[in-house]
Amino acid sequence: MIAPARGNPLPEWSTLTFAFTETDYIVRAEGDASREPVWETGRIEPYGPISLSPAAAVLSYGVGIFEGLKAFRREDGHVQLFRPDANAARFQRSAERLSMAPFPVDLFLSAVDQLVDANRRFVPPPGRGSFYVRPMQHAVEARLGFGACHELAVTMYGSPVGAVGAKSEAIRLQAVERARVAPGGTGAAKAMGNYAGSVHVAGPAREQGFDDVLYLDARTLTNVTETSGANFFVVNRAGQLITPPLDDQILAGVTRDSVLTIARDELRLDVQERPISIDEVLAEAGEAFCTGTAWTLKSVDEIAFRDRSVRFPGREVRDRLWEIISGTQTGRRVDTRGWTRLVPEGASRR
Ligand SMILES: Cc1ncc(COP(=O)(O)O)c(C=O)c1O
Repeated sequence: MIAPARGNPLPEWSTLTFAFTETDYIVRAEGDASREPVWETGRIEPYGPISLSPAAAVLSYGVGIFEGLKAFRREDGHVQLFRPDANAARFQRSAERLSMAPFPVDLFLSAVDQLVDANRRFVPPPGRGSFYVRPMQHAVEARLGFGACHELAVTMYGSPVGAVGAKSEAIRLQAVERARVAPGGTGAAKAMGNYAGSVHVAGPAREQGFDDVLYLDARTLTNVTETSGANFFVVNRAGQLITPPLDDQILAGVTRDSVLTIARDELRLDVQERPISIDEVLAEAGEAFCTGTAWTLKSVDEIAFRDRSVRFPGREVRDRLWEIISGTQTGRRVDTRGWTRLVPEGASRR
């Protein structure tokens, strides 16, 4: 039996944004790399503060990672997740990059099922948005000096978030002569520290009316990489869909992979994963868009760089991709790739 929660109020579905709403339950699992098995199964707890030693390594050294994925309510009322196995695999890769014992994929999937099932009433109606799941893994061991930690914890919470519709507004980016992460650093992991430093860079751009910054490659300060939290694509005048290749500075987005798969297999586009310079983007692209779980697929209307500003009027490729991806996520389209996972009714009571 799960302990009864406070029963937080449901949000107004029509006004949902990406703002956080408190739900009823979280999931917690403890790990200890000095025992076998390392990880316990996740358990449901009422939503509320979690306690940590003030000496927990995550608090001083940022030994923590996270994920973001979404659950959608279908027209038939069932709730399904989009590619949770891909997030589970990335959660493991991120943990390993931070020298933490990886959380097993089956435990990740059942913990997400439990979380979504326990908070099912917070999953918005079809077309009104989705339920965003935030899994995190932290080194909770009390230690003064830094080093690999045995004592770990996985915590998952969720929040209903708003729909980003087909007509979502295009965004403005400022390309900056800065890198998001260091070469050879943790850029390919979804590590806490990658995000802490980017607020300082994106903040001034936001004050000037941009939605985010577009970072350049740390080694060359020439090629584009990604924004603070989304991958970047362009379509050039020859109709080629181009995105920078995965390396130590780019997070392997699940949406990025979904876009590449659909573009190749279904839309039969000429897809290129290759370095692309900011000069080529500004000179050759007719369409640009960003991809991520939170942002979904956002058309880029304008990129400013140094004293130039270029507009990108194209929307076609983004719109075709979004139709297929959002249709699959919400169950309007048949899932031919096994990308969706039904959240079993009662998963949180097992
Ligand atoms: C730095 C960064 N790049 C790209 C993405 C997009 O990844 P995904 O499509 O898996 O959400 C994210 C979000 O997780 C991110 O934080």
